[in-house]
Amino acid sequence: MKRSVKQAGIAIAAVLATGTGAHADYPDRQITFLVPFAAGGPTDVIARIVGEHMSRSLGGKTMIVENVAGAGGTTGITRAAAAAADGYTIMMGHMGTHGAAPALYPNIKYDPTKDFTPIGLAAGTPILVVTKKAFPAKDLKSFIAYLKANDGKVTEAHAGVGSVSHTSCTLFHSVIGAKGARVTYRGTGPALNDLVAGQVDYGCDQIVNLVPQIVSGNITALAIATPQRSPALPDVPTTKEAGLPEFEVSAWNAIFGPKGMPKDVTDKLVGALDKALDDETTRKRLLDLGSILPDKDGRTPAALQKLVESEVKRWGPVLKAAMATEKATEAK
Ligand code: MLT
Repeated sequence: MKRSVKQAGIAIAAVLATGTGAHADYPDRQITFLVPFAAGGPTDVIARIVGEHMSRSLGGKTMIVENVAGAGGTTGITRAAAAAADGYTIMMGHMGTHGAAPALYPNIKYDPTKDFTPIGLAAGTPILVVTKKAFPAKDLKSFIAYLKANDGKVTEAHAGVGSVSHTSCTLFHSVIGAKGARVTYRGTGPALNDLVAGQVDYGCDQIVNLVPQIVSGNITALAIATPQRSPALPDVPTTKEAGLPEFEVSAWNAIFGPKGMPKDVTDKLVGALDKALDDETTRKRLLDLGSILPDKDGRTPAALQKLVESEVKRWGPVLKAAMATEKATEAK
């Protein structure tokens, strides 16, 4: 007997509702998780911790972290944005790549607000001002005085124009009216190695890979740029406590796919991220490194889209003003 169009329609709806639809077998192979900075930095560390749990909830299909560094993270993000939107390439973006970068790269090849499928926020990351262990100034006030006295001579490590470390230090310099000699790395993982080795003087970086080095006394944390101290570093004063309330900045790391991913594939990734952030072991690993974990409402794709839109709007004028101040300092 021939089935009517209506019957066939009901059958298709039933198949979709029971999850045996178009991409029911997703993922059936390895997923590439692109990190737009070198290994060992905060973006990489968060991607590996979260990705490990996500791959388990996605049926054990491996997530291979691929580090594609360059141009403050925009090289890797440009590549990932152009990948097939099939869920087999996802990326870890952050406040720099999806907030600050458009203000600093006039020819950037992606629009953070339009060219991605948001999956969810993975972690908030406070910013710290840190110096090498042997730096002569031991607190924020004397560090600022030292920078002013040696304007443009003290070396500052960052992960490229538009990265979080670059953006945060740009803001810091504009607030204090002095700056360092900027040294570019492919990520703050290698930058931190040089800071520990005493090859560079300071940086403004995300808390995540700094905590173990601060706790071991290999580098000095001058202040954390958040209203409250971090439970991971209870002895480090806030910038307000250290006399610089004008400098407050926090970063975030979030997972995106290329634009136009199928909804059922996106939903699986969203569910896997949600499970990772509910998992006690994963949470502890992230919290011990000073991350701030988003609550359920804060980790939805819609919340991430809203965050990206507000960050792009926010950073444009802030960075233009900060860069102008930096140039004015140079001209003196
Ligand atoms: C940044 O400064 O944007 C990051 O710390 C880069 C990184 O994860 O290495």
